[in-house]
Amino acid sequence: MSSKRYFDEVARQWDEMREEFFSDTVRERALAVACVEPGKLAADIGAGTGFITEALIRAGLKVITVDQSEAMLEEMHRKFAAVEGIDYRVGEAEHLPISSESIDYVFANMYLHHVETPPKAIAEMTRILKPGGKMVITDLDEHQYEFLRTEQQDRWLGFKREDIEKWFKDAGLEDVTIDCVDDDCCAQSKCGCDSANISIFVASGVK
Ligand SMILES: C[S@@+](CC[C@H](N)C(=O)[O-])C[C@H]1O[C@@H](n2cnc3c(N)ncnc32)[C@H](O)[C@@H]1O
Repeated sequence: MSSKRYFDEVARQWDEMREEFFSDTVRERALAVACVEPGKLAADIGAGTGFITEALIRAGLKVITVDQSEAMLEEMHRKFAAVEGIDYRVGEAEHLPISSESIDYVFANMYLHHVETPPKAIAEMTRILKPGGKMVITDLDEHQYEFLRTEQQDRWLGFKREDIEKWFKDAGLEDVTIDCVDDDCCAQSKCGCDSANISIFVASGVK
């Protein structure tokens, strides 16, 4: 099954699933690392049903959300129909539907381990950042839980932090930092015979 089809199918249950995987600490850390300022424009890439977007709107930012899955975006729209300041766009990792150098902050939570070519996705997210803009990625450290590939369409079993640092620098980002979120991603395999507990990193860089 493709990742798009998987997320189209789980869209209605995603919020419930996500609450089992990780906590609000992830978005709190992501926004704190970015030092977001109200009134600025952020992009939430691989936005899903709006976990990061919701926190950005609460912090007083406007948000362009991008996802390959129409169903995930529709679910976000259904939840936030009355909320102003969210622009919903269907798009793909390597061709984001956002103009170059137009965004103050780019966020991507639990998105990178689904894309085909992570360094290209990072370069594309860097393209849309204004000079001086900040990118913050929260994702999984390298792990061994194969069932996440077959059951949740994860393409990459997390990442080595040194690879993330290199890809950020290769994309032209400076002041690159990578730290622990102090929260783990937890998941149980369908058969109940394996359970994952994976540390989460927060990586940031400035264009
Ligand atoms: C694990 S979910 C995370 C959703 C959201 N960021 C959250 O924290 O709840 C990954 C999201 O990335 C999207 N995605 C995966 N690969 C993508 C790609 N190549 N281009 C655009 N979106 C993609 C999926 O459709 C899905 O909504």
